[in-house]
Amino acid sequence: MVKIGVLISGSGSNLQEIIDACNEKRINAEVAVVISNRQNAYGLERALKSSIPAVYIDPKKEDFNKKVIEILEKYKVELVCLAGFLLKISEEFVKKYRGKILNIHPALLPKYGGAGMYGVHVHDAVIKAKEKVSGCTVHIVDEEYDKGTIILQKKVKVLKSDTPEILQKRVLEQEHIAYPEAIKIVIKMLFEKTKNH
Ligand code: GAR
Repeated sequence: MVKIGVLISGSGSNLQEIIDACNEKRINAEVAVVISNRQNAYGLERALKSSIPAVYIDPKKEDFNKKVIEILEKYKVELVCLAGFLLKISEEFVKKYRGKILNIHPALLPKYGGAGMYGVHVHDAVIKAKEKVSGCTVHIVDEEYDKGTIILQKKVKVLKSDTPEILQKRVLEQEHIAYPEAIKIVIKMLFEKTKNH
């Protein structure tokens, strides 16, 4: 069973989907630890409700990334999932878990990614640009913000009546399907040996 570490900053609804997918054995993994840069993130409560260690790390600390790595090592994490984690991780972090860090983004990357593109801001930009289709992307994290290899995307129609908040809700529903699916693909790619090996 692959040990997953999930990094969050907020509600953690994607985290919940990952926990549920593990519990229901839709993916061959377990969430070993949840780490947040916000003390009051609801996702920490979700973790505790599922008896998963929940750790807050102060983002103001200079060695924030080092501390995160220490915790991931303590829980023997093999795959890192950023799920609404709103800080950019350090190059050292990327190097340490190269190819084994996933992120979910609420748009069809490479469009509407990068600094400042998070949460409702993304949907606001999509509507302002009069896009007809939006969606979500699960990708591998590398040194460049929101630019790593795409694992999968799910599309959502943008309706004339959409506000950023309404679109956000529909995209989030697709995120909840996409993230466990993407994790399953990555686990197969990275950790499950084929019969020929
Ligand atoms: C999700 O919509 C996720 O795609 C987004 O934050 C939300 C977190 O929701 N992430 C970003 O915008 C990253 N740039 P959740 O805490 O309920 O999973």
